[in-house]
Amino acid sequence: MPRKPLIAANWKMYKTPVQAQEFFKLFLPLVANHDRDEIVVCPSFTSISVVIAAATGSGVAIGAQNMHFADEGAYTGETSPLMLKAIGATHVILGHSERRQYFAETDELINKKLKTALHHQFIPIVCVGEVLAEREAGKTEEVLLRQTRGCLAGLTAGISAAEASPIVIAYEPVWAIGTGKTATPQMACEAHALIRAEVARLLGNEVADNLRILYGGSVKPDNATTLMNEPDIDGALVGGASLDPQSFAKIVNY
Ligand code: PGA
Repeated sequence: MPRKPLIAANWKMYKTPVQAQEFFKLFLPLVANHDRDEIVVCPSFTSISVVIAAATGSGVAIGAQNMHFADEGAYTGETSPLMLKAIGATHVILGHSERRQYFAETDELINKKLKTALHHQFIPIVCVGEVLAEREAGKTEEVLLRQTRGCLAGLTAGISAAEASPIVIAYEPVWAIGTGKTATPQMACEAHALIRAEVARLLGNEVADNLRILYGGSVKPDNATTLMNEPDIDGALVGGASLDPQSFAKIVNY
């Protein structure tokens, strides 16, 4: 079975609920009946409910940008998987580089969140990627292997292909995020091949063959087609260019 591409919008800390609704009014007609790719929008927590209502019946799925690993507890300021489930979110971005950089998220924490996400049947989008200094020092492979192993740790013991099938990995070179610099298709493909081979080693060939690996980092309407034409790029995680309905629709309709 070919892997169905996934195009995900990461709105980061942008848009009020009203602005999110306005986006959907303009966006949905532009992607009506679009079935080739899975489309997901991840707004901030305060907009998730209104966006789910706005997207009803459209085929566009709604996700969160983060989630706690515990079902509930004394974790001031956090949001639990049960809360997200209850309002109908289906996807969750985990370990985005901004979470790693500004909120000290580690592979170990992301691993706990991933296990929770699988337990509650979310589609987790686990982010990995090197910073510029690591790429320049020739450490990209080492970083990607460490992050992939760390994020997937403990899943090796007896996880079935079906249980692992929701996992999505997003390769996001940190130097390409929000900078207008995109990895060349060759750089992205090298990273994706490395990650897929490591997932095969950890979780088996079936899981690796079915694994969707997204590229993220300055994906725009004018480079989406080139990136998406690569057989090993199974979708995109889009930040800045997903905030505008026309621009995100152009990416979805690459
Ligand atoms: P960008 O962000 O598209 O603005 O580079 C991507 C991301 O952070 O997921």
